[in-house]
Amino acid sequence: MKLTIIGSGYVGLTTGACFAEVGHEVLCVDNDPRKIETLLRGDIPIYEPGLAEMVTKNVAAGRLRFTTDTPEGVRHGDVVFIAVPTPPNPDGSVDLKFIEKVAREIAPAIETYKVIVDKSTVPVKTGEKVAETIRRYAPGADFDVVSNPEFLREGSAVADLMKPDRIVIGANSERALALMQRLYAPFHAAVLTTDIASAELIKHAANSFLALKISYINAVSAICEASGADVEMVAEGIGMDKRIGRAFLNAGLGYGGSCFPKDIAAFIAISEDLGVPFTLLKEVERINRDQLERFLKRLRDKLWVLEEKKIAVWGLAFKQNTDDIRCSVALDLVERLVAEGAEVRAYDPKAMDRVRDLPLGEKIVLVDDPLAACDGAEALVIATEWPQFAQADFAKVKPRMLSPLVFDGRNLLDPATMARLGFEYHGIGRGAASVGEE
Ligand code: UDX
Repeated sequence: MKLTIIGSGYVGLTTGACFAEVGHEVLCVDNDPRKIETLLRGDIPIYEPGLAEMVTKNVAAGRLRFTTDTPEGVRHGDVVFIAVPTPPNPDGSVDLKFIEKVAREIAPAIETYKVIVDKSTVPVKTGEKVAETIRRYAPGADFDVVSNPEFLREGSAVADLMKPDRIVIGANSERALALMQRLYAPFHAAVLTTDIASAELIKHAANSFLALKISYINAVSAICEASGADVEMVAEGIGMDKRIGRAFLNAGLGYGGSCFPKDIAAFIAISEDLGVPFTLLKEVERINRDQLERFLKRLRDKLWVLEEKKIAVWGLAFKQNTDDIRCSVALDLVERLVAEGAEVRAYDPKAMDRVRDLPLGEKIVLVDDPLAACDGAEALVIATEWPQFAQADFAKVKPRMLSPLVFDGRNLLDPATMARLGFEYHGIGRGAASVGEE
């Protein structure tokens, strides 16, 4: 089938590559000429495992192309996906100006029947607005609007797209639904068909629930710290209940990234707008903010004044396997340390170049080697759950540090092993048991 993706960011590009991989003819559109030039040169503007290989292969096979020309895109695809950003307004509500603009641009280019698919995360009822807009700018145009939310995670986006848990298609027309089902047939995944509004809501409700799970275990971690229990064991124990599940019960510094903080704020704003305020989610946000505060307090309790203290930080990305630093709690932490006068020596396997470009990048030392980041450090903080940090040779870390103090903000390390190696180890929610001293 021929399809077009408007917006070639994380979601658009990865979705386009995966559709091409299963045999469709995909044209990816973006209004940023630099991004399209980069892609046409054969470079990938983001780091996502497996994506570069998949793009290269499908470009070579002629199934994946790029353009800045939206009308060309609309003419190409029987199905036209909208995958543009939906950034937050200062009050947390969703800024839909890019969606509206694309709807306006699509409208005059519709010559034959099109399915316009909303892939971006949007408030419930946006589909109606998109349809209204297209009708206003192209009266009589033959099209249907469909909501098809995306559930991919950064860092495993390709795998999530190729083997999705479910595909949600919100459609009010049999014709559009049939095309969407054909499009997704090669993925052999469970398809849930709904009305448009329900599909739109599923995305915000799913992300909010996952964030709720994280804040739940983080709130439990605070109780563990106060009581001497171990949150890892508690998570294991409750996660073994199939009704609860172990996933997304990893206590840590809290959730970040381009989705959760934005989507939870948006869902709160949407609920308030509809006159049914979802106050539980405000608590989810509060717990998330608190997690970093408690961590900083524990660091201060140990080091007293942070000014002039050399602190090594491992991890800057908002999670493992990505170079994405948007709303990264690791970066918030570094900013706080810098604001208190600490000398931060930071390392991340993929996100260093992105941090180098920030004003913050000039206030810290970015070190290419995790061991060297620890030179002279009074504490090592693990801020991102990169698996390689757990594999690090801590026997080599210790002699490089001024004092062998490890604050593990992602519970990656084993407290007993760290104690055996002579570290004083502080995890999240690991109570007194986690502080192992030689
Ligand atoms: C999320 C959703 O998982 C995905 O379905 C949706 O499409 C987009 O938003 P993503 O933001 O890529 O994906 O990352 P995710 O793996 O969900 O992690 C989000 C944040 O939560 C990260 O900062 C991560 O460190 C944190 N996290 C995750 C925890 O603190 N504990 C956990 O148990 C899981």
